[in-house]
Amino acid sequence: MSRVTRIKGFADMFPPESDVFTRMQDCARAVFSRYGFMELRTPVLEFAELFSRSIGSETDVVQKEMYTFSDRKGRSLSLRPEATAGVMRAFLDASLFSREPVSRLFTMGPMFRYERPQLGRMRQFHQINCECLGSDSPVADAELIAMLLLFLADLGVKDLTLKINSLGCAECRPRYRAALAAYLAQVDQSTLCADCGRRVLTNPLRVLDCKHPACKALTAQAPKILDCQCPDCGRHFDAVLAFLRVQDVGFEQDHRLMRGLDYYCRTTFEVVSGAIGAQAAVAGGGRYDGLVKTLGGPDIPGVGFACGMERLAFLLDKKQRLRPDFYLLALDATVQLQVFVLGQKLRAAGLSGLLNFTPAGFKSLMRQAGRSGARYCLIIGQNETAAGLVTVKNMNNGVQNAMPEADVFHFLQAGIFHD
Ligand code: HAM
Repeated sequence: MSRVTRIKGFADMFPPESDVFTRMQDCARAVFSRYGFMELRTPVLEFAELFSRSIGSETDVVQKEMYTFSDRKGRSLSLRPEATAGVMRAFLDASLFSREPVSRLFTMGPMFRYERPQLGRMRQFHQINCECLGSDSPVADAELIAMLLLFLADLGVKDLTLKINSLGCAECRPRYRAALAAYLAQVDQSTLCADCGRRVLTNPLRVLDCKHPACKALTAQAPKILDCQCPDCGRHFDAVLAFLRVQDVGFEQDHRLMRGLDYYCRTTFEVVSGAIGAQAAVAGGGRYDGLVKTLGGPDIPGVGFACGMERLAFLLDKKQRLRPDFYLLALDATVQLQVFVLGQKLRAAGLSGLLNFTPAGFKSLMRQAGRSGARYCLIIGQNETAAGLVTVKNMNNGVQNAMPEADVFHFLQAGIFHD
């Protein structure tokens, strides 16, 4: 019989990648909690309108990349292509703004975009997403960026570049849009890529951050957004940069950084790596002061970012896997009960480990213990039972000790602590 295959762009995840994901999530929780962020979990399915109203109906994400379908009652639903819109909806549903002046929320999980799969680009991918709602201060932008960089540093991702720009506000951006549209109207547009040919009319700002060499060449002399900004936006951006400098955060200003989602205003940023190929951004975000209002809520400012977990996993050391504390071997059937009880006791005391009852030669059992990555191999056979001892082998240095069962827990715990 033929087998049912998985869907293109949707991946199964086994160790070591799933271990790396766990490591990333643990690290994110540890770092974000130091900044007062709370974890929120939102559904993967929302009304399609939530995304067209927030991300923008003319964006590639909404126009071409959403998984949208009708449910049995004919309502249009979409799998979330990103987390921000759902977080805003949940924030409004729960009226969090009436409980606290500033809400700091993070969320993690799968997102869905019907894009052409390639290295670093999946149709189901995972994001770690942070939103800070309630402050329009440039300190909020700088603190959030610093938190993102601390997370990436704690994770051990190296050689990243922070790119930053400001998109201005509802006052000054239309001025810039008009200046850019006027510039594009007087150049020869025939060399623009097909997407940009369409964007010239619908979303000219996006022509600027197109990676296509011909589009880049055509916009080389285009007016720059910072030159059109109002004094308030200029001061806000200068302050964000000053707060970054004071923390010694290195950045590159990139006047082409527009981002693919329409809700941004003022600060936008991306963290890019040269090691992933074309899909270089491992994280992206910015300020979205009008978004909550657009979704029918009060006028509450916000700033946030999302990291792509698959792209981060690609950059992380996959050899650093999660290691069990012990691998417990029953050398013959008569000791199985004792082994089972000891294993349960060690786990109840907080240690992690595997039990092996499968009859096999000693060498083969030790090979299996080695492959498991366990820090200690515990061996119980008839000799050990007769002497009332357990043999404990340190798998890092090969040193072996025999000790009473009652001492095993403290011995392992002390060793793991010094590891
Ligand atoms: P985004 O730039 O669309 O922003 O996505 C953020 C990150 O998700 C990207 O930098 C990339 O690492 C990852 N990513 C995006 N699409 C894919 C894909 N198809 N396959 C693999 N990874 C992908 C947002 O989603 C905003 N909601 C971020 C934000 C939060 N802005 C404010 N708050």
